[in-house]
Amino acid sequence: MKIASVVGTRPNFMKIAPVAEALARHGLEHYLVHTGQHYDKGMSELFFEQLGLPTPDVNLEVGSASNVQQIAAVMSKLEPVLRGVSPDLVVVVGDVNSTFAAALTAHDLGLPVAHVEAGLRSFDRRMPEEINRMLTDAISDFLFTTEESAAINLNREGIASEKIHFVGNVMIDTLVKHKDRAARSNVLSRLGVSRGAYAALTLHRPSNVDTEAGLQRVVALLRRLESRLPLVLPIHPRTRKNLQDRGLLQELESMPHVVITEPLGYLDFLALMVAAKFVLSDSGGIQEETTVLGVPCITYRENTERPVTVTDGTNLLVSIEEAEIVEMVDAVLEGRVEPNGRRPPLWDGAAAERIVTILQSRL
Ligand code: UD1
Repeated sequence: MKIASVVGTRPNFMKIAPVAEALARHGLEHYLVHTGQHYDKGMSELFFEQLGLPTPDVNLEVGSASNVQQIAAVMSKLEPVLRGVSPDLVVVVGDVNSTFAAALTAHDLGLPVAHVEAGLRSFDRRMPEEINRMLTDAISDFLFTTEESAAINLNREGIASEKIHFVGNVMIDTLVKHKDRAARSNVLSRLGVSRGAYAALTLHRPSNVDTEAGLQRVVALLRRLESRLPLVLPIHPRTRKNLQDRGLLQELESMPHVVITEPLGYLDFLALMVAAKFVLSDSGGIQEETTVLGVPCITYRENTERPVTVTDGTNLLVSIEEAEIVEMVDAVLEGRVEPNGRRPPLWDGAAAERIVTILQSRL
């Protein structure tokens, strides 16, 4: 049996790593495709090294482009590859452009598709990820879910229950495996911050960083927050570029308690989250990682597709209103808010094993 998997962006790498290991453990042949959606060393290669991922069998080198061009490029370059490899199944993970483009290509070639992290819904169709999730799920044959809300969403969209498998969270498999190694990182001393005395930030959602208004809001918020505690911002290339283009990067860099750094590798970022007083982020996966780490996560978004991180975990979903975020930050700093600390069901480090066991028995 031959399984092909397709990855393209930073969060995909953390999700495919345990699946690749489980495939190897089960003695299944694995053909790994990198679309090249992320291509900087710090956004891609470093993760392959740290997570012990096999070198991709092919890199489609699609690079950066508009959503339409990126999806089209993945599809036209992936088609001949999949025709040549002729796998028994194609695995896609997450919700990025590469995920949907690969799923549609495989589906059109008549290949079964497995979607890892299926069924998450923010119900916000302005997010490209929401469209990628819905379309990928609609054409997948195996829908592997991370939380119980997902099956409800999928059933509502008419997807048969037989296709849905609640297996847990592969991103947490990776976290469980590497947490001890991350504890040896010296990232705190490199960045000049102390345990429990800073906030870790990530910001890259188009809705927050692609418009002048969104960026101005971010800069104003950081100005308010940095008077309370140091803020560490490993900056996504998208955010850096947009700040630079609008002349706002200098303004951020001039704030005395804002530490801007290049994107960090997996182990350093994990170490940075573990020791943070709180995390402020518009990422999806970070809501899950902080939940398992027990670190409060103030989500800088209007909604979440991962409700279990709010009901069971440490996610504090506020809004993007400055006053509300500042109030939540103060509540966390003063200990007035104690986020939940339960680990969601099946987030136990064995999700990939369940996935591969199911695939092997069904194919
Ligand atoms: C993509 C995903 C998003 C995910 C994020 C993780 C989509 C629609 N979005 O967003 O869901 O949360 O990855 O990071 O698929 N760039 C570089 N070097 C790189 C990669 C990107 O400089 O290695 C710059 C380019 O200027 C590019 C921009 O970042 O235009 C955005 O990259 P892109 O892949 O389009 O989307 P992300 O914002 O990374």
